Amino acid sequence: MKHTSRTTYIGLNLRSCSIRLWSEEDADALQRYANNRKIWENLRDIFPHPYSLQDADAFLDFATQARSTEFAIANETEAIGGIGLRLGDDVHRHTAEMGYWLGEPFWGRGIMTEAITAFTPWAFRWFELLRIFAQPFATNTASVRVLEKAGFVCEGQLKANVIKDGKLLDSLMYACVREPPVIYRLWGEKR
Ligand SMILES: CC(C)(COP(=O)(O)OP(=O)(O)OC[C@H]1O[C@@H](n2cnc3c(N)ncnc32)[C@H](O)[C@@H]1OP(=O)(O)O)[C@@H](O)C(=O)NCCC(=O)NCCS
Repeated sequence: MKHTSRTTYIGLNLRSCSIRLWSEEDADALQRYANNRKIWENLRDIFPHPYSLQDADAFLDFATQARSTEFAIANETEAIGGIGLRLGDDVHRHTAEMGYWLGEPFWGRGIMTEAITAFTPWAFRWFELLRIFAQPFATNTASVRVLEKAGFVCEGQLKANVIKDGKLLDSLMYACVREPPVIYRLWGEKR
């Protein structure tokens, strides 16, 4: 296991799921749940479809590295989805984009709402972020609903921003911004 060399640690035990580090042992479950066209349709093309065991192994090689910002959503027995951050740099160094997906058998139980609601404050603190955003395709009603239930605010609609599966789509900019007192404290820090 590479866990011992990790510099990032997460262990959120929630009512409906946990959010934890990925492990190489998650490959089978990852392949089984990620290999779903309905999931691929709502994610970037970097998420493979079909999703093979080799794809799962390649992802886990990357996701188990020391500074990985990719995490597993799990039930008592196995990984059932993923949530991760793409950290900004330069002038965006306090900003991150969040991505997430859940295995279809687990949809509609409030799992992702609970996961994002817990993950967001954890990520603000751990990575010293001021802003976390997500960009669901405008057609992704379930993801929009999840973001709104988790307290994210729609800042706008990005016209013709996405080409997915041969279709030109708008995307939506949803963001959660850390409370002003924290922002002012960070502004006081020398960079
Ligand atoms: C989006 C996704 C993560 C939601 O996970 P989930 O655990 O099922 O979400 P929740 O159960 O917490 O909430 C789903 C909400 O969307 C609503 N919803 C689901 N499908 C819907 C639809 N087609 N139209 C309108 N509302 C819908 C549900 O009713 C629920 O809202 P409610 O609690 O007000 O009833 C999951 O569907 C998924 O992995 N989709 C594919 C990948 C993806 O879209 N990732 C996000 C990319 S931005």
